[in-house]
Amino acid sequence: MTSRTFLLAAAAGLTLQILPWGAWALNAQQWSEHSIYQVLTDRFALTNGSSADCWIRGYCGGTYEGIQNKLDYIQGMGFDAIWISPIIHNIEGNTTYGYAFHGYWGDDPYTLNPHFGSPDDLKNLSDALHSRNMSLMVDVVINHLAANQTPNSVNYSAFPSPFNSAAAFHPDCTIDYANQTSIEDCWLVDQQPPLLADIKSENSTVFDAMVRSVVQNVQDYAIDGIRLDTAKHVPKRFLSQFQEEVGVLVTGEALNESIAFASQYQSPLASVLNYPLFFTVTDPFVGRTTFDLLAATVEAEQVILPNINAVTNFLDNHDQPRLASRVGSDVIREMNAVTFLFFIPGIPIVYYGFEQRFDGGGDPDNREGMWTSGYDTNATLYKHIAQLNMLRKAAINSGDFLDSAATILLASDTHLAFQRGPLVVVVTNTGSGPSISEPDAAANGTLSDVMISQSSFPPKTTLTDLLSCEKTVTDAQGSFNSSNSQGGPRVWASSQWKTTLCS
Ligand SMILES: *[C@@H]1O[C@H](CO)[C@@H](O)[C@H](O)[C@H]1NC(C)=O
Ligand SMILES: *[C@@H]1O[C@H](CO)[C@@H](O)[C@H](O)[C@H]1NC(C)=O
Ligand SMILES: *[C@@H]1O[C@H](CO)[C@@H](O)[C@H](O)[C@H]1NC(C)=O
Ligand SMILES: *[C@@H]1O[C@H](CO)[C@@H](O)[C@H](O)[C@H]1NC(C)=O
Ligand SMILES: *[C@@H]1O[C@H](CO)[C@@H](O)[C@H](O)[C@H]1NC(C)=O
Ligand SMILES: *[C@@H]1O[C@H](CO)[C@@H](O)[C@H](O)[C@H]1NC(C)=O
Ligand SMILES: *[C@@H]1O[C@H](CO)[C@@H](O)[C@H](O)[C@H]1NC(C)=O
Ligand SMILES: *[C@@H]1O[C@H](CO)[C@@H](O)[C@H](O)[C@H]1NC(C)=O
Ligand SMILES: *[C@@H]1O[C@H](CO)[C@@H](O)[C@H](O)[C@H]1NC(C)=O
Ligand SMILES: *[C@@H]1O[C@H](CO)[C@@H](O)[C@H](O)[C@H]1NC(C)=O
Ligand SMILES: *[C@@H]1O[C@H](CO)[C@@H](O)[C@H](O)[C@H]1NC(C)=O
Repeated sequence: MTSRTFLLAAAAGLTLQILPWGAWALNAQQWSEHSIYQVLTDRFALTNGSSADCWIRGYCGGTYEGIQNKLDYIQGMGFDAIWISPIIHNIEGNTTYGYAFHGYWGDDPYTLNPHFGSPDDLKNLSDALHSRNMSLMVDVVINHLAANQTPNSVNYSAFPSPFNSAAAFHPDCTIDYANQTSIEDCWLVDQQPPLLADIKSENSTVFDAMVRSVVQNVQDYAIDGIRLDTAKHVPKRFLSQFQEEVGVLVTGEALNESIAFASQYQSPLASVLNYPLFFTVTDPFVGRTTFDLLAATVEAEQVILPNINAVTNFLDNHDQPRLASRVGSDVIREMNAVTFLFFIPGIPIVYYGFEQRFDGGGDPDNREGMWTSGYDTNATLYKHIAQLNMLRKAAINSGDFLDSAATILLASDTHLAFQRGPLVVVVTNTGSGPSISEPDAAANGTLSDVMISQSSFPPKTTLTDLLSCEKTVTDAQGSFNSSNSQGGPRVWASSQWKTTLCS
């Protein structure tokens, strides 16, 4: 099947079997029913489950076996997929930016990174996930290989064939981010070690070898999906080839605030990371802006992106400051933001530690060791996310959710309300009350009820907020007051819907 028919089918929301290997690999439709928990392999758990005392830019000792031992913790929140760090061998030793603990400095696509465990350990993790009906997404880099060397002294012969010659790479140049050709051809890091030597994709010997190395890993470790690093640095025609040959869903990192820019990458790839949403989602929930721009983004993306259900949505990640670093002391703000994340179109991704209110800022502070949390399953956000995953699954299973658009009902300074299928979601940025003082919150503690009209709920219908189990009744016009819940989110449904919930 060509990538074009793949995409047309995916855009039409059809279930299709494009996957020659592994009963477990998933198509875009199946991925759209998932929610993903992102871990940095080195930072999630040691094999023996103890705490590491390590440098934030060094290896801490997290392993595949450590993750496997904590799958109850992850599945207990309701996630049915994990995204792990790149698995291939990386450069050793210290650099200007520390060690390669994150996995993005590969130097041998044919060998695994021994710091994370053995090939059997990775197979074991994959098997353990599949036996739980969970899926494995692996981070992959095809844009560059790394060298712990200084400019003009790269020892190309140290790379495995066919990467072992200067002809396999573009010549060293500094990226001009205003020039797409330069973004694609120049080196991501070119001034000091680690040098990130840009693969010459247009050399088919080289690019085919890179793609085959990934296909081999997809087969060997029964990988269900790929998060493709630095996708905007690879020409789109080669991304198309990559998507077609790996066969599993690829969600690409095209770091840019523009929806039009993102949409160019969801043609070659089945999915893109929703950076345009990321760039508009934080400010309103922190209370710094109104919900207008976020509402406009949600509406525009549903029109512009080729397959909104397959994009991957997130509030923070290993490259961006954690949301808790911006919301201050009030966990209610994260509860609102993550509720929004779970019900808008797309696949929700939660970055490990969000549920424990980790509050690291930019890289590397946002890459904390998970062990410091004690893996507390009683944490407020842990339990809230478990509830959101349960409700999202119930909505998906009702058959009237994934194919429904999110319709904005209200976007104000303090509230955002939208309907999607059987649910009306109401979120707010007021915080939990005037006693909480947030450093830069504009809408702070102004708790009020909000009138929701134009939903599809009929007049005189009893509604239940599935988060609190509180009830309300629509008036003769079908409008209702979404009462304030100490600044918390609401997920309203007809009380007749899934009557086992809140019964
Ligand atoms: C756990 O494993 C780490 C890394 O291998 C090791 O340094 C540490 O001593 C071990 N701790 C215990 C309690 O065995
Ligand atoms: C690694 O290199 C950095 C930058 O030169 C330096 O600050 C740091 O102390 C080194 N760390 C180790 C563990 O060698
Ligand atoms: C794989 O996991 C099983 C338990 O699930 C364990 O018995 C076995 O030793 C593991 N194999 C390796 C290589 O770690
Ligand atoms: C596995 O998960 C899929 C959705 O991801 C669901 O349709 C299926 O029923 C689940 N199977 C089992 C055995 O739980
Ligand atoms: C370059 O790498 C090759 C292969 O690892 C090694 O044999 C050679 O000594 C290296 N050359 C230099 C100058 O470091
Ligand atoms: C492509 O890369 C291969 C492997 O490094 C090299 O032998 C060949 O000369 C390159 N072809 C061109 C046209 O640069
Ligand atoms: C864009 O970058 C490419 C690759 O470095 C370069 O050849 C080209 O001249 C640049 N174009 C402009 C307009 O600067
Ligand atoms: C996003 O893409 C546009 C158009 O290519 C470009 O002008 C803008 O600088 C990009 N933004 C970022 C953050 O790279
Ligand atoms: C769980 O949290 C609640 C409220 O935050 C607290 O009362 C309870 O003691 C906690 N339970 C455990 C086992 O930590
Ligand atoms: C938020 O509310 C607190 C308590 O009323 C107040 O002290 C603080 O100045 C407010 N912050 C802003 C930015 O209005
Ligand atoms: C909503 O609350 C307002 C003000 O308290 C009240 O006037 C209105 O009748 C209420 N509407 C509904 C549908 O309950």
